[in-house]
Amino acid sequence: MIISVRSISYDELKRNLSHDDKIVLWSCDTCVKHCGIAGMDKMIVLEDLLREDGYNVIKKELVSESCQINLAKKHRAAHTDIFDQATAIIVLTCEIGYQCVKTVFNDKKVIETAKTFGAGNFSNKKGPILTSPIPSTNLEIDPEGYTLNNLVERFNLHPKFFDADKEPNPEKVTITVDGKPLVVKKNATLLDELLANRMKIPHLCYDASLGAIGACRMCLVKIEGKRGFVPSCSTIIEENMVVTTEDEELEELRKSVLQMILAESGPEIQQSRDIRFWMRRYKLTDNKFYLDEKDEPVDDSSEVLIRDPNRCILCGKCVRACTELSGQRVFNFANRGSKTLAITGLNESFGNTDCAHCLACAHYCPTNAITPKSINKKIVGYPFWTLISYPKKVAPKR
Ligand code: FES
Repeated sequence: MIISVRSISYDELKRNLSHDDKIVLWSCDTCVKHCGIAGMDKMIVLEDLLREDGYNVIKKELVSESCQINLAKKHRAAHTDIFDQATAIIVLTCEIGYQCVKTVFNDKKVIETAKTFGAGNFSNKKGPILTSPIPSTNLEIDPEGYTLNNLVERFNLHPKFFDADKEPNPEKVTITVDGKPLVVKKNATLLDELLANRMKIPHLCYDASLGAIGACRMCLVKIEGKRGFVPSCSTIIEENMVVTTEDEELEELRKSVLQMILAESGPEIQQSRDIRFWMRRYKLTDNKFYLDEKDEPVDDSSEVLIRDPNRCILCGKCVRACTELSGQRVFNFANRGSKTLAITGLNESFGNTDCAHCLACAHYCPTNAITPKSINKKIVGYPFWTLISYPKKVAPKR
């Protein structure tokens, strides 16, 4: 994953624009999503901010690998009606994506918004961390990595997306978690606040940028006054809430839920980093549930993605990422109960669908059921890429 941090403030961005500009927002979902710069959701936020301030946004363009000139050219050619009238392009990508857009749109005002530091990965504890800085940053290689906050402080950048420039301080309340008081944001999602306070709560189907559907049941906690177990991913914090996140009963329950997920999917999902982490955490070596092993054909028909349904745990992240971030509706659920399946299109091959190749589904998939084909290929033409290692996901061995 490429690590980039926002380099200009919202006010600086506006200083680069005029109210007569016809603005295109250009973004990429491939590797900077975690740094809070890219993706359809970020473009929607920026579009709203700009519209509120009287600017004219005429298009949002999400491109899977914005660092490829050919792709950028293809998108320009496909929408000449819009791009011909555009006067300003705001680029929400890494610096290489920006250079590429600048080359393709050399007749327009192209505004850069990020500083790129090199490659890194995602740590559950620290969030995105930079482990392979590019030489121009003058940063030493540090096996512990640099967190985004380190980079923000050292280089005087902006830690959050543009709306944070306008955000007032959120109201705080005190709740009790495992017998101790904890100050958290009022009306925030309980899981978000527990994770922000470094508590290890298992979760497979939740992501703050996609919202909650409560499908995997891994994040269950106990809340005083509420019956049974409650999914923390879909619980809104209330003042004086008393929460239990760890006890023997929860430990056993989470273990069983994880064993059920493992039993329902093919053995390949045990190669997933998230699943391996929770298997180690709950010391799972055998499984008390036995179901018929899945033997679904791997779908290789897409130009850029491979889909292995045997690894799918029905978390629904691909469905939500495709709908909410990419604006497509390529993924869906079919059937009910134990026969539920994630399908592409109207249960047709991936290659036959309207997939926009934004890679959002692969980015969110926690079990590598969807992986980009290009992941192990060296991308030629960009010397920068040869200096860094690509994200950890690897295509399934078949
Ligand atoms: S993370 Fe809460 S139910 Fe899946």
